[in-house]
Amino acid sequence: MKVLVVGGGGREHALTWKLGHSERVSRIFVAPGNGGTATEPKATNIPISAEDLPALLDFARQEQVDLTLVGPEAPLVAGIVDRFSEEQLPVFGPCAAAARLEGSKAFAKRFMQQHRIPTARYEVFSDFRDARDYIESMPVPMVIKADGLAGGKGVLIVGDHEQAACCAREMLSGERFGDAGRQVVFEEFLRGEEASFICMVDGRHVLPLATSQDHKRRDAGDEGPNTGGMGAYSPAPVVDAVLHRRILDEVIYPTVNGLAEQGTPYVGFLYAGLMIDSQKNPHVLEFNCRFGDPEAQPILMRMHSDLAELCMAALAGRLDEHAIQWDLRTALGVVLAAGGYPLEACKSGAVIKGLPAAETGSSRKVFHAGTRLGDGAVLTQGGRVLCVTALGDTVRDARRDAYDLVRQISWPQMFYREDIGHRAVSENA
Ligand code: AMP
Ligand code: GLY
Repeated sequence: MKVLVVGGGGREHALTWKLGHSERVSRIFVAPGNGGTATEPKATNIPISAEDLPALLDFARQEQVDLTLVGPEAPLVAGIVDRFSEEQLPVFGPCAAAARLEGSKAFAKRFMQQHRIPTARYEVFSDFRDARDYIESMPVPMVIKADGLAGGKGVLIVGDHEQAACCAREMLSGERFGDAGRQVVFEEFLRGEEASFICMVDGRHVLPLATSQDHKRRDAGDEGPNTGGMGAYSPAPVVDAVLHRRILDEVIYPTVNGLAEQGTPYVGFLYAGLMIDSQKNPHVLEFNCRFGDPEAQPILMRMHSDLAELCMAALAGRLDEHAIQWDLRTALGVVLAAGGYPLEACKSGAVIKGLPAAETGSSRKVFHAGTRLGDGAVLTQGGRVLCVTALGDTVRDARRDAYDLVRQISWPQMFYREDIGHRAVSENA
């Protein structure tokens, strides 16, 4: 079968690499892809942006693509699945109405309240005067979120009332996130340990993927600004069997059932970003309507099952007839980023040195994100550039092997966190 992967980041490289292992898959098109997808067996990059829905639709129709997998949220929220489905093109992802779980934080919060899904208390505002009165009455720190998509930058954690009012004004005026900020969600600040819980969903049935945890902050010790994720590992020891069951019962099934009852059943990867409090209760911080990045890289390295087959089963509403086989080892991925990320525009075009020639065995893999091929070299193109991922019998082994490979790679102003997996290492110690 022919598969189209939409997107060009590390997650899409991991999806392409994994799909390439399927005997059922003969060709993979990646739109637009990156320097890593360009060199995967069976894969070809197509110069179409992930947000150019008409061009993607034309391409899928012309090539008679058998399955489309959509990596990033923007095309999902914009309705790519609805458009493909109208043309009977098989696509694994949620329709626009279900993708509102990520596309509108106000929608997601109302939905959770309605279905009694545990989450932080909140209020929604579109008028600055109302927001200002509310801010005065609330304890700090407080969390302010732009309602719409803001490229992973729309969440601010503020320590005092003045700063909160200033951020709210900038958002509500459209100055700070454009239309995405014209409505804001204020949230109670939650403490605890974060975990990512990602499932495949076919509208009714749920197949949980292996658990994972990412590191959102830029600097070691979970300090510095929020990023898209500086590294991730799977499994996440914080999610034990009891908590796993509770997450399914208290978060995932109420979400999937609630959307089905509303007439907008959820199909695709469903990602719940959770805060686990000190009593081990899960609270939803956010929903994403897609696979996580960089969680996809370690999770897919551990997946033994055929991803293309699972996606086709989901499109037939038959995920209940499947189970996923996992490598019991731990996988850990370290993101290598370009200087300036995530706050400034990053310089592109630096030559990346020390990349392993081809495959590095089945237990290590360098997934590309912001890269492209040029002049016989691999060049940087963007903030998060690579995710170096390794499997190990223990999280310590995976970490050692990933960092051994990381230290061979370089370009000017490359940086990475030295402590990916630190919580899992101490929990297993
Ligand atoms: P989100 O995109 O909503 O997941 O937010 C990005 C990050 O902000 C999360 O991964 C958390 O680290 C942090 N965050 C979001 N909401 C809260 C909250 N209510 N309390 C504490 N931290 C939060
Ligand atoms: N790693 C967080 C995300 O994909 O949103």
